[in-house]
This record gives sequence, C-alpha cells and structure tokens, in this order.
Amino acid sequence: MVSTIKNILSQKYFSKEDIVALLKTEGDSLQLLLDKALDIKRCYVGNYVFYRGLIEYSNVCGKNCFYCGLRAGNEKVARYTVSDEEVMEAVRFAYGKDFASIVIQSGENTNAINVHHITDLIKRIRQESNHTLEITLSLGEYEEEAYQEWFDAGAKRYLLRIESSNDNLYRKIHPDDSSHRFGDRFSALKTLQKIGYQTGTGVMIGLPFQTIEDLADDLIFMRDFNIDMCGMGPYIEHPDTPLWQFRDLLLSQRERFVLSLKMIAILRILMKDINIAATTAMQTLNPNGREKAIRAGANVVMPNLTPQKYRENYLIYENKPGTDKDAGETLFEFEKNIKDAGEIPGYGLSGTSKHFQSRN
Ligand code: 5AD
Ligand code: SF4
Repeated sequence: MVSTIKNILSQKYFSKEDIVALLKTEGDSLQLLLDKALDIKRCYVGNYVFYRGLIEYSNVCGKNCFYCGLRAGNEKVARYTVSDEEVMEAVRFAYGKDFASIVIQSGENTNAINVHHITDLIKRIRQESNHTLEITLSLGEYEEEAYQEWFDAGAKRYLLRIESSNDNLYRKIHPDDSSHRFGDRFSALKTLQKIGYQTGTGVMIGLPFQTIEDLADDLIFMRDFNIDMCGMGPYIEHPDTPLWQFRDLLLSQRERFVLSLKMIAILRILMKDINIAATTAMQTLNPNGREKAIRAGANVVMPNLTPQKYRENYLIYENKPGTDKDAGETLFEFEKNIKDAGEIPGYGLSGTSKHFQSRN
C-alpha cells in the first residue's frame, strides 16, 4: 500500500482512480499524503497562514437546505442582522489586530434593500480602512447585477460552496424547488468568476448518501473549475434539520474528520497555489482540528469577530465552538495553532490567492 501511494504521489497528473486511492489511504501511507501536501504548500504558497476576520452578518435566510440549522423552516432560531455600527466595530478590531482581510457571511436574503445595504457597507469598510482591508463575501446565490454591484463597491473575493458537485446528491440534500437548483448554483459560481472575483467554493464531507467517488469528483470539479480558494469541512448533523433522520447512515465524526483532512491534502496536491481554509467545522470535530488542517495543506484561518450576543444564533451545525469565547482569547488560540503546526501567523498580509494572480 505504501508503495502504491508513493507511486501515485510521484505523478504529475491524477486520475479519478488515483484520487479515490488517496482518499482511501490509512496509516503510514496517509502520513505520506499529508507530508507531501505540507511540502507543496510551503513550496508554493509559503509558511504564512493568512487571517480573515469572519463577521456572521445575518442569519436571516430564505432557503431550506436540509443540512443547515439556519434554514428558513427552523423556527427555533432567533433571527438577527448585525447593525452597521457593530460591523464597523468588528472591522476596526480586525484592522487594529493587523488582519488584512475580512469575510462577510450570512444566510441568503435576496431582497433589493438588503443588496444595496451590503453595497453601502462594503464602501464604508473600504473607506474606513483607507482602501486596504480586503473583503470576501459569502452571502449565497444572487443575480449577476448584485454580484457586479458589490464587486464595483470594492469586494473582490467571493466564497460560494457548491456543497456537492454531484447533481443527484445535491438534490437529496436540498428541497426540490426552483430556489435550490444545482444548475443555478453552478451558474452563480461561473458568474462570479466571469466578473473577476477571486472565486472560492467548497463541499461538505461525509454527507449521508455521499460516496468516496463523489468526493473524488468534487476535487476534480474544483480543479476543472479552476477555483482560487476553497473552504470545505465535515458535515455535522443538526437535530432541527431534515437530514438528522439519516444520522445512522453517517461515518463516525472521527472518520469524517480524517476524510476532511485527506480532502484538504489532495486538493493542495491538485491545486498547489490556491488558498485553502482550515474551517471551523474541522475544529468542531477535533480539538486540534485547525492545526491538523494546516499541516494537511490549509493556509487560511478565519477567526470569528461576530459580536458575542449573536453567536448562539448562528449555529449552522451542532456544537459549533466559540460561542462563549471573546475575540482576544480566540486570537491567542489561533496563533498557537498556527505555530504548533510549524507555520507563521500572516498578520498584515492580504493573502491574495497566488492561483488568481497567475491565471490573470
Ligand atoms: N455541517 C457542516 N457544514 C454545514 N454547512 C451548512 N450546514 C452544515 C452542517 N450541518 C455549511 C455549508 C454552507 C456553509 C455556510 O456552512 O457548506 O455553505
Ligand atoms: Fe441558508 Fe446557507 Fe443554511 Fe442553506 S446553508 S439554509 S442558504 S444559511
């Protein structure tokens, strides 16, 4: 097994079969895979781990994804939108801590007032940071006009997870209606790329009904799409969602975690110069999740800067951490995780995707 994996890792091009073999690897050969990914990361994107301050701007969402605790149908969630003043406070905190970039994430709220409001916020954030703070949006699917308006206002990065690249699986984890179409999601991602965003996507790993072949296809999808950034992590069940009923079909949380590490490592090998996040979901399933993700090839972390009082209402999945920690405490932990992984906290670095730079 070790020699098979060694052989695969020495190749330049990876077939679906190769990727499946890598996803199935365990023990010593798994360590080879992780080590190779770390080498490649250091060689192509360096030792720095970039910071993105995450603002969970609003949990108002019009969608009903079967996996997500924030789905419109979950009446237990108290809905909120962070005030402009609070956003600016978080922005000043990020700026003060020498983060060169922030992420604004929220549920999907496509009404025109919200779209323009976000435009105003983007302009304000750019202005108050002397046009230095880079803004990533992670707001979901919108019309091209909205994406263009935000781009023109100064947001140059967008994260829209495809969730699964398999249309059939996509259908099993979303309602069968016109607001949850795989084709629309794909087109939205294409539109973002066309407009000129640094475009990121990602998938959930260990979903019910998902196979190893599906995950291999997800990685191939990201390679073929030529993404600039990726945020992906384990699927974590949530009791107030329709997928909860399938929890007995799931791999153990430990297995989902290891599978996610492999996904990160393989993606790093397939796409050497993209940015890959060590996601919160990784940290949720393992107390050293962030550090392990970095050692598997991730080079971005996203400390949560959402005002404390809102955090208990942004529970996408069970046991999401950080609801009871203040930002200072969290930052210390991030720095420790990065250093323990043998890397350097990338304060002051905007961390533009190298892949984006070289394809432009
Ligand atoms: N487990 C893990 N990730 C989830 N997401 C939504 N629900 C879950 C869950 N139960 C992810 C989706 C979405 C992002 C905001 O959170 O990939 O795009
Ligand atoms: Fe809404 Fe996003 Fe959750 Fe889907 S995953 S229900 S779009 S917040």
